[in-house]
Amino acid sequence: MPVPSPSATSRAVITGASSGIGMELARALAARGHSLILVARRGDVLEELAAELHRQHGVTVEVRAVDLSEPTSVEVLAAEFAGREISILCNNAGIATFGPVSELDADYERAQVLLNVNAVHDLTLAVLPQMVARRSGGILMVGSTAGNMPIPNNATYAATKAFVNTFSESLRGEVSGQGVHVTLLAPGPVRTQTPSADEASIVDKMVPDFLWHSSAKVAEMSLDALSHNKMRVVPGTLSKAMSVAGGYSPRAVVAPIVGGFYRKLGG
Ligand SMILES: NC(=O)c1ccc[n+]([C@@H]2O[C@H](COP(=O)([O-])OP(=O)(O)OC[C@H]3O[C@@H](n4cnc5c(N)ncnc54)[C@H](OP(=O)(O)O)[C@@H]3O)[C@@H](O)[C@H]2O)c1
Repeated sequence: MPVPSPSATSRAVITGASSGIGMELARALAARGHSLILVARRGDVLEELAAELHRQHGVTVEVRAVDLSEPTSVEVLAAEFAGREISILCNNAGIATFGPVSELDADYERAQVLLNVNAVHDLTLAVLPQMVARRSGGILMVGSTAGNMPIPNNATYAATKAFVNTFSESLRGEVSGQGVHVTLLAPGPVRTQTPSADEASIVDKMVPDFLWHSSAKVAEMSLDALSHNKMRVVPGTLSKAMSVAGGYSPRAVVAPIVGGFYRKLGG
């Protein structure tokens, strides 16, 4: 069964919809006729996007300005979603840190785990029973190629994305016979536009332009993969190479090589 068609009562949820891949997922889902619930902390950005998507596509767009690294806020949102008709959940919001864990802000590292892991788990648990009961639903998990391997100097992020990658592909095996699609997006470098020299981050400077994928293209690829219930979508040459390296190379060999590259990003 394909991912549910849009309806007046159902909603597709996108976390982290205020920028990047999440904003493009929202645009692509609205263009496909889905009414939405947009989640992120910056409510003003979400309201602006909601007005744009309603104007362009006539869909209903609700906004939830929520900090998903706050367990009590996630609890409230999860309770709401459990009682709504959620046809699609895009677990996209995520943050990353670079550098040795011992030198990073401990509170931010903890927040990273709460956002990248706990919120993904809680929101999935909230919507899964209704999807299984309806024998219809789609869950897009945004993991990363970083979740395929140990990455010194990106340790918390790599570990959180390992959770997302494994949770997604394990869950898919449980529910694929029950009409629920679960697809993992495991990208490498993705950005919305090429930054100017002034705006370029250390990651922009280190990864050549031809290896970047556009957020809009990644969003379209992901939704197509979700509708076909693909296990994993890996956009781009670098991501595919990282996936192969992470899947087939001994972890003790991969870790120092990748860690050396990420050490430079820690600056
Ligand atoms: N871009 C890449 O190269 C790449 C590669 C591999 C994987 N990924 C994964 O793809 C996903 C999206 O990445 P992106 O680069 O598109 O991200 P981004 O542009 O940095 O956007 C992150 C989104 O998450 C939201 N967010 C951050 N902290 C939050 C919090 N505490 N509560 C609620 N929302 C929060 C942000 O909104 P607010 O600031 O408004 O809260 C924003 O909408 C992430 O899971 C990332 O790990 C990205």
